[in-house]
Amino acid sequence: MTDLLKTPASWPRPLLGRASADDPTDLDAAVKAGAFAGLKKAVRTLAPAAVVAEIRAAGLRGRGGAGFLTADKWQAAASTLAGRRYVVANGYGADPAARTDPVLLERDPYAVIEGVAIAAWAIGADSAIIAVRATEAGAIRRLEAALGAAEEAGFIGANMLDSGRELTIDVRPVQGAYMLGEETVLLKALEGKRGQPEQRPPYPSERGLFGRPTVVQNVQTLALAAWILREGSAAFGAIGSPAAPGTILVHVRGARRAGIAEVPLGTPLRAILELVGAGGRSGLAFKAVLIGGPSGGILPAALLDTPYSFADLRDAGAHIGSGSIVATAAEADVLELAELLTRFCASEACGKTIPCRIGTRRIEEIASRINAGTPRPTDADLLTDLSADIVASGLCDHERLATLPMASVMRYFRPELDAKLQPAAEQAAGRQRVAVVDGEPAH
Ligand SMILES: Cc1cc2nc3c(=O)[nH]c(=O)nc-3n(C[C@H](O)[C@H](O)[C@H](O)COP(=O)(O)O)c2cc1C
Ligand code: SF4
Repeated sequence: MTDLLKTPASWPRPLLGRASADDPTDLDAAVKAGAFAGLKKAVRTLAPAAVVAEIRAAGLRGRGGAGFLTADKWQAAASTLAGRRYVVANGYGADPAARTDPVLLERDPYAVIEGVAIAAWAIGADSAIIAVRATEAGAIRRLEAALGAAEEAGFIGANMLDSGRELTIDVRPVQGAYMLGEETVLLKALEGKRGQPEQRPPYPSERGLFGRPTVVQNVQTLALAAWILREGSAAFGAIGSPAAPGTILVHVRGARRAGIAEVPLGTPLRAILELVGAGGRSGLAFKAVLIGGPSGGILPAALLDTPYSFADLRDAGAHIGSGSIVATAAEADVLELAELLTRFCASEACGKTIPCRIGTRRIEEIASRINAGTPRPTDADLLTDLSADIVASGLCDHERLATLPMASVMRYFRPELDAKLQPAAEQAAGRQRVAVVDGEPAH
């Protein structure tokens, strides 16, 4: 069981507000605490387009990493002509070290089910899938129990809230590698096929599962949509930062403590790390923070005032990614950490795009020889060139993100990198001296 971290009382909890329930599958208790109020409002009082408008007014952005505007996807799916449409809730959790999504499914399965039903109502879908990592047995068990109870109570099923509309929601355990979390790969897996990322456009909202318009949404995004319908877009907009309102789940690790917390977007990194006893005045010292999972950015402790938001992290060279935040030890070797992460990213690259397949391996090789004390004089330039080439040509975001660990080292830990590049610099200088002595031009 992953611990839920205690957060300041002033931090709102749209996602984990019901997380302390003794039995999260107890439907009566969940309904008393607000579950399905948003769905009732949507189905009984709002036209589908008005639901999309409410989500747009809230400024909801996807919590699966990229921060795409949720209302844009719903509108595209609703307005694409099709006989059938689907909703797919992405609860795969590609980064197994960040258990934010399975924990939400375990602690409040009704929030996700309600969000799925609202999305289905908004786009006109009669069928939905909640994809969960197959090893997350607890989340799957509770989701199945909650779905059964919600159907029996008429919230979903043959006649959703007596609306005359049908909605079937299935739980689908899925298991695979890191790339399975990417939406087009996940859709292929749900079709029973082996998947690699697909060229977009067309986006899944126009052509997704079985070629039909499909809204693929992270489970947190859907749970937040349920909260927005219940409490209103203005209440949501008042939480977090104006550019990206609301909260998000993070899995934060310090030297002594780790756990999951719901944080308002825009919260300074320092305040998040203080939850695990790192970063504050009395906190344990650390050198850097790895943000976003294995393809994340490594920020120096000097950047602890950076707000945890999509735009601020992107500008700093990191990303929200899996919601993982790890404080490294004070004596950590960031270059070795970056090599490890790059090796993981290179191994997980599916290989469909050549610059990603070859480029991530080259970056790994360069990191490896620098760490082994055998750098080449051109390595720093090569790293810069490779990163620029790779990010410009990916079929999916993995290519760009895989360059982040080494890019962080070049941007923030240059003295350490230069120290490790020193043997190559000396070698080059030695070659120059020999060339001058020999009377040849030195290049
Ligand atoms: C390599 C890779 C792995 C991903 N893994 C996940 C994942 O585990 N869960 C998730 O929701 N999104 C993941 N995504 C993002 C999805 O492709 C997609 O953008 C997201 O599910 C859309 O939902 P959202 O708009 O609610 O964020 C991943 C993307 C990439 C490139
Ligand atoms: S960018 Fe990388 S991971 Fe994405 S499709 Fe291309 S090779 Fe595969």
